[in-house]
Amino acid sequence: MESKKAQQRIDELRQVIERHNRLYYAEDRPEISDAEYDALFRELQHLEKAFPDLVIPDSPTQRVGAKPLTKFSQVEHRVPMLSLENAFDEGEMRDFDERVKRFLGLSAGKEIEYVCEPKMDGLAVELIYEDGSFTVGSTRGDGFVGEDVTQNLRTVKSIPLRLAGSKQPDLLEVRGEVYLPLAAFQKLNANREEEGEPTFANPRNAAAGSLRQLDSRVTVRRPLSIFCYAPGAVKGDGFDSQSDFLATVKKWGLPINPLIKKCKGVKEVCDYYEEMAEKRESLPYEIDGVVVKVDSFELQKELGEKSRSPRWAIAWKFPPRQAVTVVEDIVPQVGRTGVITPTAHLKPVEVSGVMVSRATLHNWEEMERKDIRIGDTVVVERAGDVIPAVVKVMTEKRKGGEKPLPIPAQCPECASEVVKIPDEVAVRCLGLSCPAQIRESIIHFASRHAMDIDGLGDKYIEQLLRLGLVKNVSDLYYLTKDDFMKFERMGDKLAENLLSAIDNSMKRELDRFIFALGIRHVGEHTAKLLANAFGSMEQLEKAGEDELISIREVGPQVAQSIRNFFHNQDNLKVIERLFTAGVSPSVQEKKVGGKFTGKTFVFTGALTRFTRDDAKRMVENEGGHAAGSVSKKTDFVVAGAEAGSKLDKARDLGVKVLSEDEFLEMLEG
Ligand code: IVH
Repeated sequence: MESKKAQQRIDELRQVIERHNRLYYAEDRPEISDAEYDALFRELQHLEKAFPDLVIPDSPTQRVGAKPLTKFSQVEHRVPMLSLENAFDEGEMRDFDERVKRFLGLSAGKEIEYVCEPKMDGLAVELIYEDGSFTVGSTRGDGFVGEDVTQNLRTVKSIPLRLAGSKQPDLLEVRGEVYLPLAAFQKLNANREEEGEPTFANPRNAAAGSLRQLDSRVTVRRPLSIFCYAPGAVKGDGFDSQSDFLATVKKWGLPINPLIKKCKGVKEVCDYYEEMAEKRESLPYEIDGVVVKVDSFELQKELGEKSRSPRWAIAWKFPPRQAVTVVEDIVPQVGRTGVITPTAHLKPVEVSGVMVSRATLHNWEEMERKDIRIGDTVVVERAGDVIPAVVKVMTEKRKGGEKPLPIPAQCPECASEVVKIPDEVAVRCLGLSCPAQIRESIIHFASRHAMDIDGLGDKYIEQLLRLGLVKNVSDLYYLTKDDFMKFERMGDKLAENLLSAIDNSMKRELDRFIFALGIRHVGEHTAKLLANAFGSMEQLEKAGEDELISIREVGPQVAQSIRNFFHNQDNLKVIERLFTAGVSPSVQEKKVGGKFTGKTFVFTGALTRFTRDDAKRMVENEGGHAAGSVSKKTDFVVAGAEAGSKLDKARDLGVKVLSEDEFLEMLEG
């Protein structure tokens, strides 16, 4: 291709990719599938490789910096980054509202217009756009001077490298909160544990650690995200209110939290707080309160600020997700890969509505770093439904009898040798037939995201092992009703149900089967990639290292681990025995001509006929797409009981609403 043509196509691709980024991250209404997006991205990468002179720093391909930094330089904020005053209950919130009115000389009966926003629990950053290009990004620092983390912020996919549209100011500074979604936090910690690296106590620390990396190639592997919430300095047309600011920057492609709401008067603010406190449990990221801001910038100016915080805003905090309790015992637990994790048994304590009695201490190095001992009084923290963690020890409460737990010399379950591999923090049991590893691997095999054997939980699996009825996962498929009848407290009906649940799992999708095998480093996502790439167990088993690495997102470590798994004769025997029993993983090729090709579904409310995961699969198997939010692009909303705002929105937009039964009819019909 000649250079002029290439330049044209490159420009076109960049624009198209930027548009899809915006639709995906800022507007939450993607128009193309991930695969289609990847194809565009790869085409751009190829062209830029062939024409290196045409590469520009703003290109969507140029997110990762080439060289690690030796240190961060400093950035002075043109406008100081203030912090917020806190309110801890409704009374303090009402006091704030009254103060605002008094200051403005308004009568008590007047109602102020506020903008209410979720208070993201991440870290504050400032993004500077000059002539529409992202040039500098910094941390808050002390409010006046922060650190230059531009290289790392460029890796955050939801931050546009160029603003969309035309009428942007010459200079735009935007403040926002960078955060790590809960799922990514969990995965990151699991990986670090497996790799023997210290774990993060909460998503906020993980986000901070990721952003303060000198090597942006590390940051790019942490799926950080951002919501923007305030302007800094602006040269050009300004904004006249917070709601104007939010709506305008959203059009330029900056992500704004969709839960932000305008509220008139303090009563509506209180309702908003209640609504968010309830939502908090099901959000995919952590929030620690709501931020209430006077909407009008004119009024904000009149109110001004005190030393470090504005008079026009307040953070109304949720009760902390931390509590103080006592470590009654520390018990070493053996996981399915043999890693031994010290687990704290706690005096049960309520942490924002949930009783907590266990906390992971992750590994010995971390436990020693925090100096956690049996008998210690500790602060525990819970994030979403992630396993609670011990944040710190209250050493001032020590009486002298507290005891640390040394690394066990032998596996607590099978007495095999325990090793601590140099450079790893993980402590592993080397026992090949360690009952704990076997138990955990069967529990994993039967679990919901793996073979999903309904009803076969930890307790039954433990009994099967104790009675010697199973020795590995393949034995599950040779069980008879008589076997189950040997259990304490087992009825005919229950035994039959368990057997048919095992039976039903025989034809699970290939990706679930691969995930269920518990190959090291092969999580749900990688299992999907492998299933798509190879299409059968035979092909996967035969795949060489090069073939494995040629799959995007599969690195040498994962490839090696897959090879090792299939080199092990015991593993091959188990797979053979599974197949002999009739297990035949189904291949879920996405049907191009499927019933739902090109259709987008949203599931909402309490579903009773199937789970959300099942629904997603059913739709995807028929070539459709299951989305999280309703937009004009949604074709169908399937509403269970107590469906709320998504159903309202569907009706507003005239999107067709189906009941669960209607959906199933459509699928079968
Ligand atoms: S506005 C002058 N809005 O909370 C106003 N802050 O406790 C500056 N935060 O440093 C902040 N979500 O890191 C604002 N929707 C939101 C926020 C938010 C989280 C953080 C921010 C700030 C801290 C103050």
